[in-house]
Formats: sequence, structure tokens, C-alpha cells
Amino acid sequence: MKKIRVVKNSLLALAMLASAPVFAAVTININPAKPGAVINKNVYGQFAEHLGTGIYEGLWVGPGSTIPNTKGWRNDVVAALKDMHVPLVRWPGGCFADEYHWKDGIGARAKRPVKVNTNWGGVEENNAVGTHEFFDLVELLGADAYVNGNLGTGTAQEMSEWLEYMTSNSKSTLANLRRKNGRGKPFKVDFFAIGNEAWGCGGNMTPEHYVNLYKNYETFLRAPAEFRPKMIASGGNGWDADAKWTDVLSKNLKNQTTGISFHYYTMPTGEWGVKGAATGFAEPEWISTLANTMKIDAMIKNNVAKLDKNDPEKKIGFLVDEWGTWYDAEKGTNPGFLYQQNTLRDALVAALNFNIFHAHADRVTMTNIAQMVNVLQAMILTDKDRMLLTPTYHAYKMYVPFQDATSLPVALSDNVEYKVGAVGIPGISASAARAKDGKLYLAIVNTNPNEASDVAVNVAGQQVSGVSGQVLTAAAMDAHNTFTQKDAVKPAPFAAKAADGKLRLKIPAKAVVVVAVDR
Ligand code: AHR
Repeated sequence: MKKIRVVKNSLLALAMLASAPVFAAVTININPAKPGAVINKNVYGQFAEHLGTGIYEGLWVGPGSTIPNTKGWRNDVVAALKDMHVPLVRWPGGCFADEYHWKDGIGARAKRPVKVNTNWGGVEENNAVGTHEFFDLVELLGADAYVNGNLGTGTAQEMSEWLEYMTSNSKSTLANLRRKNGRGKPFKVDFFAIGNEAWGCGGNMTPEHYVNLYKNYETFLRAPAEFRPKMIASGGNGWDADAKWTDVLSKNLKNQTTGISFHYYTMPTGEWGVKGAATGFAEPEWISTLANTMKIDAMIKNNVAKLDKNDPEKKIGFLVDEWGTWYDAEKGTNPGFLYQQNTLRDALVAALNFNIFHAHADRVTMTNIAQMVNVLQAMILTDKDRMLLTPTYHAYKMYVPFQDATSLPVALSDNVEYKVGAVGIPGISASAARAKDGKLYLAIVNTNPNEASDVAVNVAGQQVSGVSGQVLTAAAMDAHNTFTQKDAVKPAPFAAKAADGKLRLKIPAKAVVVVAVDR
């Protein structure tokens, strides 16, 4: 494929180049003297909806199951998720949230009503997982809780009562009902969203109509100060070219919201009809998927411009609370279950998004990949008592040092363009941060599936002795893990030493590298 050198004309790059070693390579210039915003750990948040086998089977097997579990949650899956430091889980939807009535999910499980999951496959929803079970999960994970309220088919009273049930410390009837159901102290609801996708499955509204409803519902969402969640408004999506939802919401909801959500899904074709396959794809679908996912950078800029105009004090976060790849349904699966394989391509999609989110750390303070287990771009796939870790899981785990790290400006010079036909994307994407352990971490993605890339690393004002960390790559673009070959794609050690004070790395083709930079 064609390789074209692109010089980024940035003042920072030019200033840093003056002191940089000269290599026939892409140069990553890191400036530790100009730290940016902290990368909120919740940028690495997850989404778990009542959809397909995402919750039932994938996570929840029930306390009576022969699959080892704690309070009904599978031990193997929970342990793996803890190991990748899941900071936050959003629940119960998605589209499901706007038809979810919380009272169906409390009390004796055998007596809970059975409903139809109208959004996802028309299957029976027995409400075995409800409020108490969800909080058991987040407490097992040590994660923050993000509860999504029902604006579409619920009332302000129902939403207000759910919040009272979860957070009240009083002797009210609802708080006592919570106690009777086994929970003495209030639940810690970190975030609470008023509706989901109000422009679509959440009610097909205009942003103006939603703003009025939001104000109405938010007025009645009362909670003691120490238990009051951060309120989230349901915003727009990647197809809202004028960022109208963000504009209208941020103009009208000042001091009434801490964040406006945004959804963007990556499809190889960019079309909802035929999206493209999860495996068995050719190079044009490799590059189109990466190119489509990188469009989120322009979308964030477009939306953040509205926020900067309407909220210059930066009180409102831009929360990408659904993102990831969405492929055609796997053959033989229920199309309403959104089950898909997950390949090395998905790991690169994740890493490219992380690098973009880091660059917008001042506004993008939360993101939730869709979804945690067995649905869309999952971390984990399960089959009865078996489970496997996907390439996306490995990307998340490699990036753990970036949680709550301080972002550092990165400028790339002499980046190469990776091009297939009319589609071209940067060959190298990079991000750097000073982590909580005091070390400088560098993440690099080589988008080219055919050629390794020589990368010079220049840390302004510092001598570096080398790097050590991990690389994730594989022989095939669609390499993936199966229940018989669980480790076909997994990280390997990656290290390099500086020579003559110069650090040069060979980044393999189609790879994600995360390293600590040693002085
Ligand atoms: O993640 C699957 C679905 O995608 C969610 O339920 C919905 O919010 C979005 O359209």
C-alpha cells in the first residue's frame, strides 16, 4: 500500500524538533513540561444492558447455578473484569432503560414479573437482575455505578421514587422497603441519566422537547447531598452533523446537568443496512473501519465547540456513553442479541479511540464502550461455563496506567499516511501521560497491517534510557480468540533501549504498543 510522508505543521512539533534526534522515521515528540488535563478513569467505563446474553448468562447465572458465582455473578467473568480495572458500569440500558420499571426488579426474585424485552429479540425478561443485584456487581468490581433512568415510558414520580429508594437515609416507606429487601445503607449512585437516545428509541423527540422534559424530571430527583448522583442529559449522536443536541442542551441545562451524552458506533461500511462482518474481511474493510472510528475526533471537536460557546466554565462534560464497533449479526445467532466476534481490528479501534479521548481529556470525562460481555464490542465472550478474553479486553488492560493519569501533549512529525484506494489515515497514532505511579507512559498504534514502522521518541528536556511494556499484534487482521484457542491474540512483552541517547522503536504492523518510558 502507498506510503506518503505527512508533516504536521504544529508550532509545538517544530519547537521540539529543534532538539530532536534526526531519524528517517516518524517522530513522537512528548512535552512533559506542558501537562494537560487528567484523563478521568471513567473514560475506561463499560456498558451492560439487558440485551442478549450480556447480563443473563454472560455475567449473571444466579446463586443456584453450578457455575461458580458470588451472589449470582459469575466468578470467572468478575475476576477478569476486576483485573482490567473496570472503573464504571452503566446499566440497565440503552434502549432497554426507557421501558424499564424499577419496581419489577426488587423483592423476592421468584415473584418478580416476567416482561418482554421488546427492544432486543422479544425474549422474556424475568427481572432476576434488578437494583440490588446491579449494586452487588459494581461493589464486587469496585466500580462506580451509572444508572440510566426511564424517561420514555416512566413518569417523573417513578424516577423520583427510584432515586429515593436507592439513596434515602430516612425512615420513609421506600427507604424501609430497601432495608426490607436487604440493603441497610443507601446505594452509591455515582451517575444518573434522564433517558437514553431521546432522539430515537427513547421517544423520538426534538432536543427542545427533551430539554423541557429533562428540566421537569430533574426537578423531582431529590437525594441527600452525600448520595446525590451527578445528573446526565441524553444528547446526540455521530450523525448530528450540526451538533444540535449538544448545542440546545448545553444552552438550556446550565447548572442542571454535569454531562451531555453522545453515541457513535463504528461500522466498516458506515451504513446501518449492511454494516460489514466481524471476521473474514479484506484490507478495504480494515482501513474503512479504522477511518470510520477516527471520525469521532472531528465529532468531538464539533460538539466541544458548542460546549465551549455555551459553557465556557467547562462545567458540562461530553460523555461518549456508547461507542464501539457494530457488525452484521453472526450467522446462527439471534440478530436481536448483537453478538459478534472481536478481532485484532477491534483492539486497534479501541486504542485509536483511547488516544483520541485522551486528547480531549478536559471535556471527555466519561466513555462507556458497548458492551461489556457478549454484546457488540465486548471485553469477554462466554459459552455456558467457558469464557474468553477478546483483543479489546487486552487493549483495555494495557491502557490501565492511563486511568487518572495526566495527559501530556504529543506531536507527531513525519507521520506516514496509510492508504488503501481513496481512504487514507495516519499510519501512527500516539498518546502519552504521566501516570499516578509517577512514570511516563506512551501508547502507539500502527494502523498499517502490512508494514512495521520506525518510530523515534523524543521527550523534551529529558534523556530516556529505554521503554518496557507490551505489544498486541497477530499474523492476521481478523485474528481472534476462540473457546478452543483462547490465547491466539494476547499481549507480548515489548522493550527497547536507547542508543547514544536516542530512542528508536520498531512498531510491528497492525499493532498496539503501551510502554513505560524509563529515564
Ligand atoms: O448498545 C446497543 C443499543 O445501541 C443501545 O441500547 C442504544 O442506546 C443504542 O442505539
